[in-house]
Amino acid sequence: MGKGKILVTGGTGYIGSHTVVELFNAGYEPIIIDNLSNSSISVLDGIKAITKVPVTYENIDCKDYNSLERFFEKHQDMKAIAHFAAYKSVGESVSKPISYYRNNIVSLLNLLQLMPNFGIKNIVFSSSCTVYGQPDELPVTEQSPIKPATSPYGSTKQMCETILNDAAIANPEMNSIILRYFNPIGAHSSAEIGELPNGIPNNLLPYITQTAAGIREKLRVFGDDYNTPDGSCIRDYINVVDLAKAHVVAIDRLIEEKNKKNIEVFNLGTGNGSSVLEILNGFESATGVKVPYEIVERRAGDIEKVWADTTFANQELGWKAEIPLEESLLSAWNWQKKLQ
Ligand code: WQD
Repeated sequence: MGKGKILVTGGTGYIGSHTVVELFNAGYEPIIIDNLSNSSISVLDGIKAITKVPVTYENIDCKDYNSLERFFEKHQDMKAIAHFAAYKSVGESVSKPISYYRNNIVSLLNLLQLMPNFGIKNIVFSSSCTVYGQPDELPVTEQSPIKPATSPYGSTKQMCETILNDAAIANPEMNSIILRYFNPIGAHSSAEIGELPNGIPNNLLPYITQTAAGIREKLRVFGDDYNTPDGSCIRDYINVVDLAKAHVVAIDRLIEEKNKKNIEVFNLGTGNGSSVLEILNGFESATGVKVPYEIVERRAGDIEKVWADTTFANQELGWKAEIPLEESLLSAWNWQKKLQ
């Protein structure tokens, strides 16, 4: 806890909660604000079961400027912000664009407006490989072109990156790191924290684990007629703990002023692509649990294949995804069984 306070917005969420644990392990004092719009207060118990100490938490909506300002007044000595609080469902964003723009944009604007008033210079922002759309070349690097967003969710991530870039130009003393996640999967090895999808899971692995648990009847594989070896879409699935550790490295980098520019972007992936059917078969092999599935039509908005060129993050951050895919699949299943 001696390395100072880190504000973790959205810290009861999937990536946020795992990052809180890794910040604690690294000697920081993580402080969570979250409005529980897409998570549960019970996550705090899971975090405490791992860290053995309670983590400071306040129910604050980052869209509420006054509440946020009062929080900043109470915690004047924060060293950095890890900003996760955002709505993140691609499908939902199509039906609720205004809610997504208001939530994801205003939350960031409020933080950026308050930071200089309280001497906070460092922010790490949770972005997504979705900003690349369907890359023309693979693997995708940080210099790969940003494609027009295919959902309001993707649009908000692109807009937030633009806002951070413009803020960096206007405020040279501010330091930002944008982390573009590929597909986060798995759960902490303790099975005390993990992914808590709201309702019917949009994402592949939680749908697989719920099907394996008998909660869902079968997995629908959205298309096997893509231009890939087995016809199903390819993604770069990265373990959530590896992802969390990358946030600690990024925060260390800013606090120790090792960043080369006052805004930097890193891809956070494994560098390996796996198809939907490979994930399905890999899950069955790792767990011994059969998962009934049916090939159905493609899902609107899905891109065919994307995986990361991780060279820059590996070399510049000195960070590399280490947890094998099989372990991620098993940890997701162990977490699902804990939820029953
Ligand atoms: C992966 C593959 C589906 C469910 C999105 C966002 C990204 C991030 C992760 C927030 C695709 C297939 C899925 C199912 C399936 N979100 N699939 N049956 O769409 O790559 O990424 O979620 O941070 O920003 O863009 O992830 O897990 O939804 O899909 O066949 O029931 O699995 O078609 O090929 P996606 P996903």
